[in-house]
Amino acid sequence: MGGAVVNVGPPLWLLAELTYRCPLHCAFCYNPVDFAAHDDELDTEGWLRVLREARALGAVQCGFSGGEPMLREDLEVLVAEAHRLGYYTNLLTSGVGLTEARAQALKAAGLDHVQLSFQDSTREMNDFLSHTRTFELKNRVARTIKDQGWPMVMNVVLHRLNMDHVGRIIEMADALGAEYLELANTQYYSWALENREHLLPTRAQLQAAEAIVDGYRKQLEDRMRLFFVAPDYHEGRPKKCVNGWGSMFLTVTPDGTALPCHTARMLPGLEFPSLRTSSVAEAWFASEAFNHYRGTGWMKEPCASCERKEEDLGGCRCQAYMLAQDADAADPVCPKSPRHGVVLDAVRRAEAGEVAARPLVFRDPKASREFLARGDA
Ligand code: FES
Repeated sequence: MGGAVVNVGPPLWLLAELTYRCPLHCAFCYNPVDFAAHDDELDTEGWLRVLREARALGAVQCGFSGGEPMLREDLEVLVAEAHRLGYYTNLLTSGVGLTEARAQALKAAGLDHVQLSFQDSTREMNDFLSHTRTFELKNRVARTIKDQGWPMVMNVVLHRLNMDHVGRIIEMADALGAEYLELANTQYYSWALENREHLLPTRAQLQAAEAIVDGYRKQLEDRMRLFFVAPDYHEGRPKKCVNGWGSMFLTVTPDGTALPCHTARMLPGLEFPSLRTSSVAEAWFASEAFNHYRGTGWMKEPCASCERKEEDLGGCRCQAYMLAQDADAADPVCPKSPRHGVVLDAVRRAEAGEVAARPLVFRDPKASREFLARGDA
């Protein structure tokens, strides 16, 4: 059990991962590599109950994501209820399935905001990274979003294979009328961790990209906001993951499991509550799993005596588990971590351009079942 639990506020941000089904196969997907083992989706009634209970606790923002949330035929029903309850609603989509008719229905249901993902500014790389021919479709969907009058966030995950296109990505987003462009450096979890040797950029790539982003930021300030989310491997500073475990962010997986972040289910020894049998309030306030890493009382050295412990809360528990095989350890991106060498070594290999030992693995149910069969998911 972790630190003393004081002043636990409500889960302000509810992320409803409606399904792990997805027509795309992105090599950096953050869905767990064992997603094929969790394909029993909550039904409409189940999701409606989650929406109502989370809102009653004080949640204000609701993101509908996946997988691809457009694959849920009841999405309009869920959005309408979330809107009625008073959430600010956000759809995170690859664009596949967002036809004009469904866009109109979602607008009528009260959807506030759409985040559209692109993989790159070039058809070739977009389609390669998603393992689908979706570039043209995404361009059409961007116009549909604008036609409905929604503010559009374009999201592009950055890595070694598209980092050098950042200027063209910004110009594409501007031409398509995005109000916000999120240039999110890959976080090395799940499928991205499997593919890290292909995806980790060099420091020179990052610095060049950041300088380009800064230049455009001034040029476009009156019509588009640019966010460049820095990568923690190169920063050498642990991030305050999900703004603090169980502090404001509640993810609900397709099968109704409540998690404090996308990937926490992999952590050994923690049993995350199912919202099929638990209320949101019980899960959030009373479950051992949500309380385990709240605060700082769970920390051991070097975190326990670190002057920055309140600031970064020891970094990311999932990253500590993935890279140090110990979820209670300091996040290895921190220079004080005894396992910091694994991060330095990954960056060194990226700098040296060492060839990846195996080909890119694209996210799909077959690859997921193979992970499960090998027992390394
Ligand atoms: Fe799980 Fe950071 S992603 S705690």
